Amino acid sequence: MSNQQPNKNLIARSFGQAAMHYDDVAVLQRQTGDELLDRLLLVTLQPKNILDLGVGTGRNLSLLAKRYPKAQLMAVDIATEMVKQARINYRQDEGLKRWLPISAKPHYLVGDAENLPMADNSVDLVFANLALQWCDPRTSFAEIQRVLRPDGLLMFTSLGPDTLHELRQAWASVDNYPHVNMFYDMHDVGEAMMEAGLAEPVLDTDRYTLTYETSMALMKDLKVLGASNVNSERRRGLTGKQALKTVAESYEQFRNDGLLPATYEVVYGHAWGGQAKQQNIEGEVRISIDQIQGRKA
Ligand SMILES: C[S@@+](CC[C@H](N)C(=O)[O-])C[C@H]1O[C@@H](n2cnc3c(N)ncnc32)[C@H](O)[C@@H]1O
Repeated sequence: MSNQQPNKNLIARSFGQAAMHYDDVAVLQRQTGDELLDRLLLVTLQPKNILDLGVGTGRNLSLLAKRYPKAQLMAVDIATEMVKQARINYRQDEGLKRWLPISAKPHYLVGDAENLPMADNSVDLVFANLALQWCDPRTSFAEIQRVLRPDGLLMFTSLGPDTLHELRQAWASVDNYPHVNMFYDMHDVGEAMMEAGLAEPVLDTDRYTLTYETSMALMKDLKVLGASNVNSERRRGLTGKQALKTVAESYEQFRNDGLLPATYEVVYGHAWGGQAKQQNIEGEVRISIDQIQGRKA
């Protein structure tokens, strides 16, 4: 596994600044969140304790509360402002959507997926939508395994290396610095899950294409989302007008039907806490670690 060290302070700052307007542009995040919730319907699980890891503005928190009204929810995010926003949004949902259970309010915690602020064997469901791609897979999966009960379930989405390949290619015409975040492939993710002791990991990928009028509109959306470049080898300092013009020109090679595509490779995964019996999710394709390794070109 390559050593891509995301800068934690930068991630927290970047998402923190994004908290207010994140929901305006989180189109993909809503789609993968819905898909993850749909997949969760296929498991008969009555979790008592649910952790929404990398909760962001908390959109899935209300939906999880509705699905599991008796559960105690925990909302964790590395960005303080995201946690605040999640609390505000949940309160608004309580007011607007009368269906939300009022008995057990979520617990809100600022915390790192690589050092979770909770006890061993204390969680029945870890739900992590598009958050783990900002973490070291070995450390974060080991932490998730630690807090999950043996028959607890992890359901997550993450991003694969093909994500934003058009933008990466366009930047390559400017210089050799990484301008787009690097993401781990499914093989690395599966290996990290196995190493962490998570049981029966299952992974698959799906591609989504968002379209934009201009490459500047895409880059603006990424900024609003807080998904800025956090590579430690990224180029520091302001990006010049000429560089942005070159990126825009290079991105034009991808224009199709009048629009510019932005590809997202979404990795869907689940696994059990370890030991004990595991149940299959209906219709799932089980991928053994050998098969994951076999897929690597
Ligand atoms: C793309 S957002 C997804 C938010 C939310 N899950 C959703 O579905 O809208 C990623 C979130 O993960 C959080 N995050 C990134 N690294 C994290 C870490 N190491 N520990 C906890 N949260 C993290 C970010 O602050 C951000 O709120």
